Amino acid sequence: MKTVLTQSPSAAAEFIRRGGVVAFPTETVYGLGANIFDPAAIEAVFRAKDRPPDNPLIAHTAKVEDIETIAAVVPPLARKLIDAFFPGPLTVVLPKSESVPSIATAGLDTIGVRMPGNALAREFLRECATPVVAPSANLSGRPSPTTWQAVFEDLNGRIDCILQGDPTMIGIESTVIDCSTEIPLLLRKGAIALSRIREVVPEAREYKGDETEAPRSPGLRHRHYSPRAKVFILDKDEVVPNDAAYIGVSDRDEPVERKRVCGGADSYARELFEFFRECDRDGITRIYCEPVNEEGIGAALMDRIRRAAAA
Ligand code: TXA
Ligand code: MG
Repeated sequence: MKTVLTQSPSAAAEFIRRGGVVAFPTETVYGLGANIFDPAAIEAVFRAKDRPPDNPLIAHTAKVEDIETIAAVVPPLARKLIDAFFPGPLTVVLPKSESVPSIATAGLDTIGVRMPGNALAREFLRECATPVVAPSANLSGRPSPTTWQAVFEDLNGRIDCILQGDPTMIGIESTVIDCSTEIPLLLRKGAIALSRIREVVPEAREYKGDETEAPRSPGLRHRHYSPRAKVFILDKDEVVPNDAAYIGVSDRDEPVERKRVCGGADSYARELFEFFRECDRDGITRIYCEPVNEEGIGAALMDRIRRAAAA
């Protein structure tokens, strides 16, 4: 199939309205969207990404009123988080409405809902005139795309359209919090740290997987966020080999194949996945990542680095 590149949100939305599959930018990473009420289009999303069918998708909307059309109820604590953080990099998991096809949620009776904060995403979603399910717009197992070029690299010829926007501001995926339970549970770390969530909902806590229970966030089970290169977390006093790459916030003296010194944790998070891809394009086989403090976005950044290092 021919993949159309466009900068026009209305041209991109037209593909969604006709049952197509469109990659679009958000403030976190690029997503691969389809109409939430169109099972065939959703199936095309899974196929394009080669995504395991047991991994549920997040619904994206530009309008708070839409949440009532896809969620059966919005519990009071979920409402508080929505009021505090929407639009923004937070996904709230809610009991799903019957109207949402089960393929969207991989058979779960809950649905993740998020309202992206960046202008182009919001314009695109308004033009779609329907909530849009969207996983990250990478081939399954690859790092999430933070540029339209990274989407093109993975999905050209496999999707209908790419809405070309700027590189994403945050660079790692949204915080996911399950609000279908009595106590909200943090399933995936993101730019909105648990400490900020607790300012609004003090009882929220991190989900600690229990082996006897089905995993609450199936996506976290799958191989994730990984470049082809092997990723290492740099130890104190460890020297980066000359033929390897380095990314972190401190500069290094030793010569390395590719080096990225970031201004802080925010820019480290913003650049990590694209750096992984650059290393793969260059055929670099080892990437050393400097660890950072797990405050603010640092916790989510270290989560992604650890997952990449474990792959
Ligand atoms: O920032 C983001 O969230 C990006 C952009 C495009 O919005 N999207 C994204 O989607 O990262 P994806 O599909 O790559 O990751 C979705 C994560 C997975 O870990 C999935 O298991 C979890 O959210 N998830 C989705 N629906 C869920 C549900 N109903 N219950 C529990 N976890 C859910
Ligand atoms: Mg993903």
